[in-house]
Amino acid sequence: MVGFGTADDAAVYKSSGGKAIVATLDFFPPVVDDPFTFGQIAAANALSDVYAMGGAPAFALNIVCFPRALGLGVLERILKGGLSKLKEAGVVLAGGHSIEDSEVKYGLSVTGFVDRDKVIRNSTARPGDVLILTKPLGTGLVTTALKRGLLSTAAASEAIKSMKALNKGASSAMTRVKVNACTDVTGYGLIGHAMEMAKGSGVNIVIMASQVPVFKAALRCVGNKAARPGGLVRNRESFEKDVIISGVSESMELLAYDPQTSGGLLISAPKASCARLVKRLADFGAGCAIIGRVEQRTKGWRLRFE
Ligand code: CO
Ligand code: CO
Ligand code: CO
Repeated sequence: MVGFGTADDAAVYKSSGGKAIVATLDFFPPVVDDPFTFGQIAAANALSDVYAMGGAPAFALNIVCFPRALGLGVLERILKGGLSKLKEAGVVLAGGHSIEDSEVKYGLSVTGFVDRDKVIRNSTARPGDVLILTKPLGTGLVTTALKRGLLSTAAASEAIKSMKALNKGASSAMTRVKVNACTDVTGYGLIGHAMEMAKGSGVNIVIMASQVPVFKAALRCVGNKAARPGGLVRNRESFEKDVIISGVSESMELLAYDPQTSGGLLISAPKASCARLVKRLADFGAGCAIIGRVEQRTKGWRLRFE
């Protein structure tokens, strides 16, 4: 039902009884020093792709690359961090695979279920929709600054807490209200994922920079070139040809291209269900910022950031 075509978050495959299987896989090197915290973040990030499709994750498999010289105690703490998030999500850990490698990498393959007629794609936004984002931006800048010793762990705590947070509540809220499209904001940054949504849906998207929430620590280090992740520059290069930016500070522009780890859901909802969605997100303890709107397709640009 959903494959490579529209750069969606997970694969969706028809099952019996009106159900469909949702499957996804994500893994990456450590984004923080503490092994347990890294495990938590990697698991929250992997689960998110099922939540972004409106699905309920059921079971997961670990994927591990690990240099034995680091000591298996470190690996144990990474896996325990991941498991703690699976438990919080009500997801069973059913197995996995590990290999020896020179660099640590950890992640999960997650499988879930969704009603066939309730799959929430990233390619079905409609003109007139309102765009809602459920987590602030800036985790790429914060984790890069941490890695390069430009930021203390204490200063990064708000972003770390956010990366550990499941998108389960946001997804529960979204599936109880009529929404047209959703994706989670990860490696391509806000503009990249909004662009995939715009192209897949055949619409234009307008994002209001003043409404986009960002981490204070990210704002503080965005001016320092050494804190900018390589992916930020690559995202800007690959997406800027379809973007019009007007009256936006360079800091906000960079933040909108910043690659996110375990970012929030970007939800496209009809204006008529917006108020109910905002209320539901609050009920489920999820963040919520109305950051933009969907417009009729016009030629020459795809996304306006103003
Ligand atoms: Co995704
Ligand atoms: Co993903
Ligand atoms: Co989706």
